[in-house]
Amino acid sequence: MAPHTEQLTRPAVRLEGLTRSFEGRTVLDGVDLEIPAGQFVALLGHSGSGKSTLLRAVAGLDHEVTGSGRLTAPERVSVVFQDSRLLPWRRILPNVLLGLDGKDAEQRGRAALAEVGLAGRERAWPSELSGGEAQRAALARSLVREPELLLADEPFGALDALTRIRMHALLRELWKRHRPSVLLVTHDVDEAIVLADRVLVLEHGRIGLDLTIDRPHPRSYRDPLLSAYRTELLGALGVVEDTD
Ligand SMILES: Nc1ncnc2c1ncn2[C@@H]1O[C@H](COP(=O)(O)OP(=O)(O)OP(=O)(O)O)[C@@H](O)[C@H]1O
Ligand SMILES: [Mg+2]
Repeated sequence: MAPHTEQLTRPAVRLEGLTRSFEGRTVLDGVDLEIPAGQFVALLGHSGSGKSTLLRAVAGLDHEVTGSGRLTAPERVSVVFQDSRLLPWRRILPNVLLGLDGKDAEQRGRAALAEVGLAGRERAWPSELSGGEAQRAALARSLVREPELLLADEPFGALDALTRIRMHALLRELWKRHRPSVLLVTHDVDEAIVLADRVLVLEHGRIGLDLTIDRPHPRSYRDPLLSAYRTELLGALGVVEDTD
């Protein structure tokens, strides 16, 4: 088998019957999911449907939560949240390098900052960055660890619309260059269909819809062929589009 085919068929993430409950209330009710290595997946769902709970489970960040099921994830996982979580008392480069050692770490950190368009800002303080720049730094911090899986929980949710569009292009470009598997949690149906190759909808504690978006990249929000996907996803989310 050719190496790239092998890479695409080996699952990076496998969830079997994953359940998670809080105070007796079931949030994830037997989720089955496989994400092949290198696939870009978006996860949609109503507020409170359990998207962050699922992401935290895959990230291994939910040890105190009650649950069952089987979960397999790669060793090198990076997580990006809605806020950059940069340490305010450290400059940008040390923030990116946090917890990393090795003699080439600094060089890798500088390269990651350059990749996200922050070359020259290595010595800036987090308070000197805009929201979009801070999220770029957060992406650099995750990249520098060369993750096999990138988990992102509404990473652009707090950004203005224009910055968000720029960040979409950047994320897709970084994915193309590094090919991690991606699980991107978002509220934004358009963000999901413009970025991801596969979009999942979480409902009633399970994957209610699993849609492959079969359109070439880069994609435009205005591509009429994306509108059928949008309608199907909005339908699964219980939103009826106004066609006037
Ligand atoms: N640590 C916790 N303790 C108690 N309940 C929790 C905890 N974490 C999540 N929940 C509950 O689990 C449900 C799912 O929460 P989760 O954060 O996964 O939703 P979400 O889909 O990410 O929502 P949003 O889109 O608003 O971020 C919610 O009802 C929430 O109140
Ligand atoms: Mg959430």
